[in-house]
Amino acid sequence: MRTKLLGLFGAAMLVQATTATAEELNLYTTREPKLVEPLLESFKTDTGITVNTIFLKDGMPERIEQEGAASPADVLMTVDIGNLVDLVDRGLTQPVQSEVLSAAIPENLRDKEGNWFALSLRARALYAAKDLDLTSFQYEDLAKPEWKGKVCIRSGQHPYNVALTAAYITHHGADETKAWLEGVKANLARKAGGGDRDVARDIMGGICDIGIANTYYVGLMRSGAGGPEQEEWVKSIKLVLPTFENGGTQVNVSGAAVAKNAPNKEQAVKLLEYLVSDAAQKIYAEANFEYPVKAGIEVSPLVGEFGELKVDSTDLTAIARERKAASELAEQVGFDN
Ligand SMILES: [Fe+2]
Repeated sequence: MRTKLLGLFGAAMLVQATTATAEELNLYTTREPKLVEPLLESFKTDTGITVNTIFLKDGMPERIEQEGAASPADVLMTVDIGNLVDLVDRGLTQPVQSEVLSAAIPENLRDKEGNWFALSLRARALYAAKDLDLTSFQYEDLAKPEWKGKVCIRSGQHPYNVALTAAYITHHGADETKAWLEGVKANLARKAGGGDRDVARDIMGGICDIGIANTYYVGLMRSGAGGPEQEEWVKSIKLVLPTFENGGTQVNVSGAAVAKNAPNKEQAVKLLEYLVSDAAQKIYAEANFEYPVKAGIEVSPLVGEFGELKVDSTDLTAIARERKAASELAEQVGFDN
């Protein structure tokens, strides 16, 4: 009910709510309500702080820019390093110093100045036909001639693939990355496009043998959340966690930041700290078949089946910096044509 009302009356009402009592905070999030609501409830039980939630499918930065200095936003929660860095670049976040956050989140998965923090991880994985004799894989292998006509992948301009290509640049430099993209393109079984789950569909359909897609879609398909068709698609694949030749598995993140003009900064930091507690990490990661960002937290049994995740140690900020170059390389090689 509360969420609905806030949706109708928007920012003005939120401002009123925040001045009425200090023990509230306002969360702007692009994550589905069912992923965060149970956590916000237990946060309230623990701290007495009520979280007013605004779910925004898209347009979060534009909205906060419009609200300006009077924005009621305290915590900004979203997925993909690109979106987090975009918030920082637009000046919509503020630095946070917290020993709790520094201790819980590996250095390469948070902003040096404290402008954003990763809360959960998803890996860019290999989906392979179940009967393939394949237990390990390197991203570099995708361009090898042995996979000619056997690879399925979504658009080279999709943020997930732009981040993977950007990570490739941090490992190998732009020239080698261009050659790699050309090699992957030459190996495609069909035009780059569709979604990550379509890789499983097309492996089932015999169109391709391998493809690149995010880890959590296996969970979403297997659990039946995507419908009975997808439950069939996922049966035809196995998931392998690839690594870079000289590194680990490429991950992307969901994360959060404290808003530049947060009226309830203290409460906002408390929420972030709560979200990296052991209990919250387990629930938050499991809700979408993701990996906790904090070390030592048990993953869901389904995610555990993928094997041990060895996260690539490249700084996410460095990867974010190469996004533009990655996108331009995909354009240059005509990846999507
Ligand atoms: Fe996704």
